[in-house]
Amino acid sequence: MSDLRLKGVAKRFGEKDVLAPMDVVVTDGSFVSLLGPSGCGKTTLLRLIAGLETPSAGEIVLGETVLYGPGVNIPPEKRRFGMVFQSYAVWPHMTVFENVEYPLKVRGMDRKRRAQGVMKTLDLVHMDELAGRYPHQLSGGQQQRTALARGLVMEPPVLLLDEPLSNLDARLRAEMRREIRDLHRALGITILYVTHDQREAFEMATKIVIINEGRIEQEGTPVEIQNDPAPGFVREFLSHA
Ligand SMILES: Nc1ncnc2c1ncn2[C@@H]1O[C@H](COP(=O)(O)OP(=O)(O)OP(=O)(O)O)[C@@H](O)[C@H]1O
Ligand SMILES: [Mg+2]
Repeated sequence: MSDLRLKGVAKRFGEKDVLAPMDVVVTDGSFVSLLGPSGCGKTTLLRLIAGLETPSAGEIVLGETVLYGPGVNIPPEKRRFGMVFQSYAVWPHMTVFENVEYPLKVRGMDRKRRAQGVMKTLDLVHMDELAGRYPHQLSGGQQQRTALARGLVMEPPVLLLDEPLSNLDARLRAEMRREIRDLHRALGITILYVTHDQREAFEMATKIVIINEGRIEQEGTPVEIQNDPAPGFVREFLSHA
């Protein structure tokens, strides 16, 4: 089992406490969504987990391995998370195949195994027939699928997704919500998905963690939160569908 555990993880930038000490558990095989308004600290939390930022306090543990803690700070490339980030999708100068192959190349896998891994993953996201195209020859949804494939190709212990659907139109977003949910079910992978869009969280996640101003306001299954939203922030936030 490789549960991801955050224990008292906090982040301060200069004088500002962006994340109060928080405990989050992402159990093996689950789909956890961090849901909250813009600026509440979602991306920061994901970057701490990926090793792209250093926590001000706390511990991050994956299975039996301490990723961050007293005297330990494993670098991002050794944490092996798959990542799809909010700010960019795919590399424009590489074909779909090359984009997805890149993480395997960096890790020194031989050409034949790389090709097998890439084609298997492109098949999963229905991009196998477009492997030779460049990003400018793809629709937004196809680019997003390519980014997803690049996050999945390493078969990471946890796939970290930061608002991966924010650049898509409403119809494509709905389609991708279903596809990501189906991928999660079919592959049994562990997903941590950051969004400010309640629809994404409620449709896909097995557990939702609602964050406001760097603090956890409520966590539970979508049904638990829908049936019994915490008074105050959560009720207010959920009323703006
Ligand atoms: N490197 C940094 N230095 C200083 N402040 C930062 C830094 N990175 C983020 N912040 C601040 O931390 C807070 C949380 O930012 P973060 O990017 O985590 O929010 P978010 O929840 O992902 O928002 P959004 O939904 O808009 O992406 C913001 O107030 C932001 O300005
Ligand atoms: Mg963000």
